[in-house]
Amino acid sequence: MKELAEKIQSLKNEALRFFDQAQSEEDLYQTKVRYLGKKGELTEILKNLGQLPPADRPILGALANQLRSDLEEAYQKRTTQIKETKILKTLEADQIDLTLPGLELPRGSLHPVHQVLSDMKNVFRRMGFDIFEGPEIESDYYNFEALNIPENHPARDMQDTFYLGGPQDKKLLRTHTSPVQIRVMEKEKPPIQMVAPGVVYRRDSDVSHTPMFHQIEGLLVDRGISLAHLKGVIEVFLRAIFSSDIKVQFRPSYFPFTEPSAEVDIECVFCKSSLSCRICKGTGWLEIMGCGMVHPAVFEKVWINPQIFTGFAFGIGIERVAMLKYGINDIRLFFENDLRFLEQF
Ligand code: DAH
Repeated sequence: MKELAEKIQSLKNEALRFFDQAQSEEDLYQTKVRYLGKKGELTEILKNLGQLPPADRPILGALANQLRSDLEEAYQKRTTQIKETKILKTLEADQIDLTLPGLELPRGSLHPVHQVLSDMKNVFRRMGFDIFEGPEIESDYYNFEALNIPENHPARDMQDTFYLGGPQDKKLLRTHTSPVQIRVMEKEKPPIQMVAPGVVYRRDSDVSHTPMFHQIEGLLVDRGISLAHLKGVIEVFLRAIFSSDIKVQFRPSYFPFTEPSAEVDIECVFCKSSLSCRICKGTGWLEIMGCGMVHPAVFEKVWINPQIFTGFAFGIGIERVAMLKYGINDIRLFFENDLRFLEQF
């Protein structure tokens, strides 16, 4: 009996040590199987209790049962410890260090031409203008003829126009947004109040010209429209885009599709009138747009009666406005896609 009691005691010490040393749930499980399992060492002892003399059985039985509950307790305790350590470890690994600097994502911005264009559209929208668009590939009729540009007008010269296939072909890349006026007047009855932004093309390339650029066209047709309305709209527009106190002047000019026609200047935004200014060439004025009262010949092409209706029209180069607004001296910068330039806006 003494022998068995000692065996139980040493089994206990051994098992408790193993439970204590177990590092994982797997280790623990193996230890449990080894000591408490069906084929485990403790089960073996319990099985053999029957062969002991009856007087010894209760004492050794109690010892063995005590051993079982001690081992089960040790197993539970160590399991909880291992689980807690595991949770702590994952928490530690997942910890977010809020003091680390964030990753800064590169931020895009609108192209300066589009920023200016969208400002312009907003100003006109607030004054009640609708926005229309027209095709970039135009016919000779819409680009020239309907706009009262006669056959031999210099604007038709091959120098300016990209013809698709040749001048006889009658298809071309529009040289201005004015054909949208015709397309809208063909479809809509007055009152008409519209702007048409878009891309135009000319065979031209230097510091102030690119073969492709943007314009915004305006047209207002109704009964009793006069040059005074034109002046009012243009002045409101230029003050909104440049500054509320900018000086504006109208200079007589010529466009085939308007009569009278005018060119609009704003005071030089760079020098405010200095003789040595290279931008305004000492005149103190910068040309900004063309405009005028719609020519009766244009109205007749679209079956609007010029005895009843009058209207005004204007055309503005977007890049030119952007250059003056941001002090850019070479129009080609807009189209080189150099981020060092574009990121400044
Ligand atoms: N279409 C002209 C151009 O590209 C600009 C222009 C001038 C448009 C006068 C107009 C206008 O509507 O009335 O040079």
